[in-house]
Amino acid sequence: MSSELVTVAMPKGRIFEEAVDLLRKAGYDLPPEFEDSRKLIIDVPQSGMRFILAKPMDVPTYVEHGVADAGVAGKDVMIEEERDVYEVLDLKISSCYMAVAALPSYDPGRDVAPKIASKYPKLTSDYFREQGEQVEIIKLNGSIELAPIVGLADRIVDIVSTGQTLRENGLVELETMMPITSRFIVNPVSYRTKAAQIDEMVDRLAEVVGKEDVS
Ligand code: PRP
Repeated sequence: MSSELVTVAMPKGRIFEEAVDLLRKAGYDLPPEFEDSRKLIIDVPQSGMRFILAKPMDVPTYVEHGVADAGVAGKDVMIEEERDVYEVLDLKISSCYMAVAALPSYDPGRDVAPKIASKYPKLTSDYFREQGEQVEIIKLNGSIELAPIVGLADRIVDIVSTGQTLRENGLVELETMMPITSRFIVNPVSYRTKAAQIDEMVDRLAEVVGKEDVS
């Protein structure tokens, strides 16, 4: 971890552009190479920052271990990963929700321990435990909607954004589980040792998104 620069872990992929937009609106002068290059570390010395570009699910890991001082992570990832980091601000970007879905012909009362496919085994297991339903979880890394169609699972737990993936694959939503947005997260030690820089960053972001309690 650089002692001068604040290192921020950014999620590559669909959240990335919205997160970069937000940082620019907060007054950070990010170079165009941010969107265009395949570099995984980008220094922005004029803003006192270094960005590292990680897989979304890995952002809290970098922040927990202190190799990043802060990061942008989806609430879905925060629930799944349960990392020891502070969640300081709801950035209100990449808004979507977690849902249970299945084929329209699926009868939820049919099986004793239905198979549920998901990228989020912990979140899924906690959810069904709270519902008092015994399930078997099948962990996949993507294209979750495929699982019920080919007979790998009875239901899926996944993110729904526009609903297009469910529609185009003929699946229907059975339950809405929780709303999801991206969060600004901070390493607990960095929050003390780089307090001034991190506080300023949180204030500038909060001014753009509006401050509310995070949960
Ligand atoms: C996500 C998610 C759904 C889809 C939902 O997958 O897992 O499949 O987006 O978006 P929609 O409601 O707008 O269709 P992603 O595209 O990130 O890829 P993945 O299947 O590899 O996880």
